[in-house]
Amino acid sequence: MSEASYLERIPNNVGLSENRQLQRALEHWQPAFLSWWQEMGPAGFQAKDVYLRTAVSVDAQGWASYGWVKMPDYRWGIFLADREPEKTIGFGDLKGQPAWQQVPAEHRSTLRRLIVTQGDTEPASVEQQRLLGLTAPSLYDLRNLFQVNVEEGRHLWAMVYLLHAYFGRDGREEAEELLARRSGDRDNPRILGTFNEPISDWLSFFMFTYFTDRDGKFQLKSLAESGFDPLARTCRFMLTEEAHHMFVGDTGIGRVIRRTLEVMAGIGSDDPAAVRAAGAIDLPTLQRYLNFWFSSSLDLFGSDQSSNAATVFASGLKGRPDEARYEDHDAREGAFEIELPDGKGGAARQAVPLRNAMNEVTRQAYVADCEIGVKRWNRLIRKAGVDFELRLPSTRFRRQIGSWANVPTAPDGTPIAREAFEAGLPGWLPSEADRAFVQSLMQPVTEVGRFAGWIAPPERGINNLPPGHDYVRLS
Ligand SMILES: [Fe+2]
Ligand SMILES: [Fe+2]
Repeated sequence: MSEASYLERIPNNVGLSENRQLQRALEHWQPAFLSWWQEMGPAGFQAKDVYLRTAVSVDAQGWASYGWVKMPDYRWGIFLADREPEKTIGFGDLKGQPAWQQVPAEHRSTLRRLIVTQGDTEPASVEQQRLLGLTAPSLYDLRNLFQVNVEEGRHLWAMVYLLHAYFGRDGREEAEELLARRSGDRDNPRILGTFNEPISDWLSFFMFTYFTDRDGKFQLKSLAESGFDPLARTCRFMLTEEAHHMFVGDTGIGRVIRRTLEVMAGIGSDDPAAVRAAGAIDLPTLQRYLNFWFSSSLDLFGSDQSSNAATVFASGLKGRPDEARYEDHDAREGAFEIELPDGKGGAARQAVPLRNAMNEVTRQAYVADCEIGVKRWNRLIRKAGVDFELRLPSTRFRRQIGSWANVPTAPDGTPIAREAFEAGLPGWLPSEADRAFVQSLMQPVTEVGRFAGWIAPPERGINNLPPGHDYVRLS
């Protein structure tokens, strides 16, 4: 493809056609991106037409335009939410000063690290989900997977745009590194732990899009408050797409539960072995998958007490999600109560300076958001007359980062002896046998209008089309 033709294929609202320097940087990066996509993007289906939405502008009509696209031809665009006139920094020591339109020299490396850490999760999740298309439970689900994948690709573009446009040579080097790391690779892994966990079945995919993409939502919300205006505007626009990823997880888990309840009613039993024998995923297995992905995602928020979090807040680089909802945007005086191990096998509440607790503030907002779906799923279960309740485990359970890292704790938050913890884990997390069972259900269903037996069809299709539409054209 010639330079001119691929540049005009990048929809953008950043004045790309007038910016020669940015064009040159992207000209080098774009072919590397495409070869990464071919190598590490969705396996199979690259030559098939997929019913995808593409952002072609930031207004209401343009941000989701639907059509049939082959994934390698997807128009990965660069969009920033509209600029607010006279935008000021909304929090921290510099509150009220004009927002930065260029990177302040003293914050350059911190901002670069924030952007690279966020940017790294985008290609990572595409890599994690690479093989799922081969076992999709329907064409509807296959299409949703690919929609998530191309949008994570676009989020990578969005972050690479910032690196290229504002960070010069080291930005370009970071952009290359973003295509060089590999999820789960021993020598050159992705930056954050959860993004190196394999996602080899669709139940994990739905848990990931519910819990881990939701971490993404809260990170993006925090960065959408940044005093560095191009970053804030980039993240604000990404949030519009992120909502669909969480929808895929939320409704995916809901549909698995609906199907399981139907099967339980059909066989007149809630015995997990009987439910499995009838081809559905028993609710205790679902709970174990939930425990795994929720606890893993909690670590992504960082340590509950963090001088680093205090610094990025103080300097106006990263705010709280929905900063406007808080009264005190300075947060210099405030205190925040967090739970710490009391050294005697229990928990004690302790007030810490608010700025140091920003990770925990964000994590708690995240947990409250996670609860919403769990409540909805439990309503389905109750309505079916089944005596079972899904629960988010305690935030102290199975943590690897922060004050509760490696403190043996049961899912209900009870501190326990290490031996009891080790002995309990196989019942709390998916066992080898659970994973093998779930894997055994992963048989591809590619017939138009059909759905696999372990998951109910959705209530609605995409963009007002029916659930059984041919969302991916295989012939
Ligand atoms: Fe993303
Ligand atoms: Fe996402």
